[in-house]
Amino acid sequence: MERELLQDFDRLIEKKGYANRSEALRDLVRRELDQEVWRSGKPAVATITLVYDHHVRELTERLTEIQHDYGDNILSALHVHLDHDHCLEVIAARGPARELEALADRLTNAKGVQSGKVVAAALPAARPRKRSR
Ligand code: NI
Repeated sequence: MERELLQDFDRLIEKKGYANRSEALRDLVRRELDQEVWRSGKPAVATITLVYDHHVRELTERLTEIQHDYGDNILSALHVHLDHDHCLEVIAARGPARELEALADRLTNAKGVQSGKVVAAALPAARPRKRSR
């Protein structure tokens, strides 16, 4: 790697609080792989975070309607009334990455949503559940 690039990398490591270069590299590779899964349609999990003004006409109804359309994918939703006007919603979902992407797009692009962020991760290969008796 060129010296200048490496110096920039070291500054990033310092800023982000990684213990060392290999920890930072592992994290970068994992993030890239998550992005790859996002594009592939493989099983994934995601959180979708929204901040919006609930006074915007029909926005609350719209967001609820979209979530009902994806009821099979949504694991849980957390709603916080931030202040008189604003709501924070965090939605956890699982399913084929492409479906989660479509869900996230519909929610974050809904008119009136001020801030929308998605974090997606590949779902580790499934192992059979252990049953205790
Ligand atoms: Ni609220």
